[in-house]
Amino acid sequence: MLADQPTVPESFDCDAARARFSSLRTEFAFLDAPGGSQVPDEVGQAIAQALADASANLGAVYATSLRVKEILETAEQNAAGFLGCDPHEVIFGPNMTSLNFTLSRTAGREFAPGDEVLVSSLDHDGGVAPWLELAHDRDLVVRQIELRDDTTLALADLEAKLSERTRVVAFAWASNAIGTVTDARRVAELAHSVGALAWVDAVHYAAHMPIDVRAIDADVLLCSPYKFCGPHLGIAYGRASVLESWRPYKVRPAPSTPLGRRFETGTQPYELLAGFNATIDYLKSIGGFDTIVPYERALGERLLSSISDAVTVYGLPTMAGRVPTFLVNVDGVPAADVVAHLAARDIGVWAHDSWYSLGLYKRLGYEDQAIRVGFIHYNTAAEVDRFVDGLESARAV
Ligand SMILES: Cc1ncc(COP(=O)(O)O)c(C=O)c1O
Repeated sequence: MLADQPTVPESFDCDAARARFSSLRTEFAFLDAPGGSQVPDEVGQAIAQALADASANLGAVYATSLRVKEILETAEQNAAGFLGCDPHEVIFGPNMTSLNFTLSRTAGREFAPGDEVLVSSLDHDGGVAPWLELAHDRDLVVRQIELRDDTTLALADLEAKLSERTRVVAFAWASNAIGTVTDARRVAELAHSVGALAWVDAVHYAAHMPIDVRAIDADVLLCSPYKFCGPHLGIAYGRASVLESWRPYKVRPAPSTPLGRRFETGTQPYELLAGFNATIDYLKSIGGFDTIVPYERALGERLLSSISDAVTVYGLPTMAGRVPTFLVNVDGVPAADVVAHLAARDIGVWAHDSWYSLGLYKRLGYEDQAIRVGFIHYNTAAEVDRFVDGLESARAV
């Protein structure tokens, strides 16, 4: 490794954080957080505890039901704190994709044939397919916003495609494939200029940067705690005035208040919400995004400054405008062979063709597959170095 390589900030005690994860006590380097992060033990313990102490449903007056109520209300407050909204603007669901199908259908009840939805070329298909299916059923038009050559969203193309028919501008805040971040505030402003909803997929972004739905003026925003050290769960924010205007798909006896709950179908996974509460406590205890952002940036800079010229890095070449998620290929070595080589060295990354980003991957120009490496705050500089060395040695095989 080069002597002048970026070092990670010392303010974050990464070893102390890692000690809270049983899964991080081996040599295996999990560099695959974009597919799903590792989870601290206290989250699993909170889930088990809820099943032991709070196995009931909402609405009874005895202790276990009251505990369920407390778990749910705490989860709404925690989600509101994480997203920058009010607790009654929070909607829980099984994952982002299911919530997005549900909420797009709910919003679409008022749309007319010929209405348009704009999606971004950086999107994961969980942010696109729900609109395509709605368009299929309701005779809508889905149009894709193009990218600039540097993989950032072409705002000029967005402006050109906006019209009085645009009902929604849906976009990924950060790409799960190449890490490019979109100027969410500006996209929302443009969407609102024609009266469209700003619909944000923050699944990838949420692990790396703080969210403030008011600051970006989002109408709907979705994320998934399993990407940021939590359980498999989905969370949506909906602006109160927007949610109030929608007719929910709900069973009739279920309460309509608090507002967000009317869009939740059936019984919620209370034990996972207890796990989510433990995740938020964990993130706060390590210093939150004030700690995470500079630490992860240093990991990304370390990769970019040490990776060999024989490795192609797709997307933005510096840490400006991106999160530390990279798509790479080793010149002359198939991605599948490289990831097998890395797995044999206890390094966990995948090779894939599209990374579910169907509007993006063909533009990147690789033939078959590419390797995604995604750093998160529990990764270390030593793991970055092992990954770089592993790519080097893959060339020699
Ligand atoms: C950017 C992005 N959007 C949406 C999704 C789908 O999320 P979920 O698995 O919660 O449905 C993913 C999953 O990887 C993602 O990375």
